[in-house]
Amino acid sequence: MDLLELLKKRYSVRKFSDKKIEQEKLDLILEAARVAPTAVNYQPQRILVIESEEALDKLKNCTPYHFNAPLALLICYDKNVSWKRGCDSYDMGEVDASIVTTQMMLEIENLGLGTTWVGSFKPDALKDEFNIPDNFIPVAILPIGYPAVDAAPSPFHSQRLDITETVFYNTFK
Ligand SMILES: Cc1cc2nc3c(=O)[nH]c(=O)nc-3n(C[C@H](O)[C@H](O)[C@H](O)COP(=O)(O)O)c2cc1C
Repeated sequence: MDLLELLKKRYSVRKFSDKKIEQEKLDLILEAARVAPTAVNYQPQRILVIESEEALDKLKNCTPYHFNAPLALLICYDKNVSWKRGCDSYDMGEVDASIVTTQMMLEIENLGLGTTWVGSFKPDALKDEFNIPDNFIPVAILPIGYPAVDAAPSPFHSQRLDITETVFYNTFK
């Protein structure tokens, strides 16, 4: 499938069937993360696979946006590893973790699975439940599964600004 076609087909899936995700598919999703570009190639991403019933239950204490998915990924970056820009010390870890998450989100779509990028979670609850070291910063959760037969895009999916509102040529003024 053409990439732009895949990008347009993807939507945030918030209702899943009970069907488990095959290990081979999970491996492909994680491979999409592994090959992601990161600043200075420091690869600060740290990904937790949440798949046991106990761990999935713990996730429910951290976010209401778990959608009862049969599997979830928690994407963090290690702030002791991520590149800091020289001129202002800006930490690129969140950018790196976002690229990693985006690549996995697209591979998930490519495999016929569904997900929603979840940024609304309680970081402290995640740290407690999953023993996240202090230097790991949680950035995103991807609940993943096969879309339920009646899964459908939210109205937001079709609401994108006109390109003239977000793209400028040569100067912003
Ligand atoms: C950084 C980020 C954080 C998000 N956090 C949440 C979230 O916590 N809960 C949720 O249901 N959706 C979340 N979303 C999904 C967006 O609401 C969704 O992508 C947007 O409305 C466009 O819809 P679409 O993905 O179906 O095209 C998030 C998306 C991004 C990129």
